[in-house]
Amino acid sequence: MKQDLIVILDLGSTQNTVIAREIRDLGVYSEIHPHDISAETLKSFDNVKGIILNGGENRVVDGQAVEISPELYQLGYPMISIDYPQSKCGTQFSELPSQDELKKFIFQDCKAEANWNMKNFIEDQVQLIRQQVKDKKVLLALSGGVDSSVVAAMLIKAIGQQLVCVHVNHGLMRKNESESVVKVFRDQLHANLIYVDASERFLGKLKDVADPEQKRKIIGGEFIRVFEEEARKLEGIDFLGQGTIYPDIIESGTKTAKMVKSHHNVGGLPEDLKFQLVEPLKQLFKDEVRACGVELGLPHDMVYRQPFPGPGLGVRCLGAITKDRLTAVRESDAILREEFAKAGLDKKVWQYFTVVPDFKSVGMKNNARVFEYMVIIRAINTIDAMTASIEKVDWSVLERITERILSEVENVNRVCYDMSPKPPATIEFE
Ligand code: XMP
Repeated sequence: MKQDLIVILDLGSTQNTVIAREIRDLGVYSEIHPHDISAETLKSFDNVKGIILNGGENRVVDGQAVEISPELYQLGYPMISIDYPQSKCGTQFSELPSQDELKKFIFQDCKAEANWNMKNFIEDQVQLIRQQVKDKKVLLALSGGVDSSVVAAMLIKAIGQQLVCVHVNHGLMRKNESESVVKVFRDQLHANLIYVDASERFLGKLKDVADPEQKRKIIGGEFIRVFEEEARKLEGIDFLGQGTIYPDIIESGTKTAKMVKSHHNVGGLPEDLKFQLVEPLKQLFKDEVRACGVELGLPHDMVYRQPFPGPGLGVRCLGAITKDRLTAVRESDAILREEFAKAGLDKKVWQYFTVVPDFKSVGMKNNARVFEYMVIIRAINTIDAMTASIEKVDWSVLERITERILSEVENVNRVCYDMSPKPPATIEFE
C-alpha cells in the first residue's frame, strides 16, 4: 500500500467524520470502521499505523454499551480513546484532542507519514480492486453523475475491459448529457459501454401520469427493469460496481449511528441476480470524490456538475409529461446553463434549473394572440439542501436569459424567476 492508515473505530461518536477529516487534513489517510471489526480484518489491511477508539452518545445500543473485540488490543497498534473510558489503551481523551495532541499521536506514537494524496489513494484502490475482482467481470450502471462516473474511471484504470458499463438514457436527461457519457467513456476512455436508449419506453410509461410520487416510482422502477434486462443478457458477471460514497453510508445509519435516509444506488435488483459489490469510493467525502475524478482525467464539467435529481427533467416538466414541454425544459435549461457559465455563476450557485408548468397563458406573437407555456427559472444556494436561499441574479443576466428563451424555445411566451426560499418552498417543484 502506498499510504499509511489511521483507523477510527466508531463506538457511537457523532464526530467520526470530523476526526477523519482532521487527520486527512494533516496529510494522513484515515478510515472509519464499525466497532465490531475483527482483529483478522484489521490485520488484513497492511498499512494500519494506529487506532482511535471513538466513543460517544450513541454507544449504548438496545440498553447495552458496545465494546470492541478484546483481541484488537493484542495487535500492538498504538491506540488512543476519546470519550471511551478504557484502561487497556494509551492516552484517553474525554473530548476531541487538539490538533497538537492529534499530531503527536499520529506522527510520534504511530510514526505515520503524511503520504495521503489522490495519486496514492488511486494506486491503492486499483491494487485492491484487482485483488478483489481477479479475472472476473464487473457491471456498473453509469448514469453520468459524479459518483458513477468516477467509479467507472477508477474501474477502467484497474480492470479495463473487464468492466461493463450500462448507460440507460431514460429520455429525461439534460441536453447532450447522454451524448457526453458516450463520448467520454466509449470514445476517450475506451470503456466497454452498453448504451440503451429507453426514452420512448419511459415516456410511454409516464404518459398521462400527473402525480409526482407516481412519476418518481415509475422512473425508478423502470430504470431497474431496464438495467436488469441488460444484466440478464450478459454472462459471467460476478460483481456490481457502485458509486457509494461515505455520506451515503453515514446517512443510511450503522449500529451506532442513526439513519438519516436510506440510499441505494441500484437498489431493488432481483434476488437471483447475486453480485458482490465493488465500492472503491466508499471512504471518500464528496469533495474528495471530485478530486479523485480530476486525478483520473475526467472532464471538469463532469466532475463539478451541479446536483441533478435521479428522475431528471421528469420532475421539472410538471404534471403529466408531454414531449413539447419536455423539450421546452431541456432547451431552456441548456440556455440557462450556458448563460450562467458565461456570467461565472456556474461556479458560485449551488443549483440552477428551469421548470415548465402544465398550463398556458395568453401572449402575442406576430401580432396574433397565442396561448403558450411559461418557463420558471430557479437558482438557489444551500449547504446541505435542507434549507436554501435564492441567488440574487443580476438583472441584466436574467434579461439576456429571458430574451434567449423567448426567441429560441418553442411553445414558450413567458419567463418568471422564482424568489422563494426553502422553506416554505422546496428546491424542486415536485
Ligand atoms: P427538495 O426539492 O426536496 O430537493 O428541496 C433537495 C435536493 O434533492 C434533489 N432531489 C432529488 N434527488 N432524486 C434525487 O436523486 C429525487 O427524487 C430528488 N428530488 C429532489 C434536489 O434536486 C435538491 O438538490
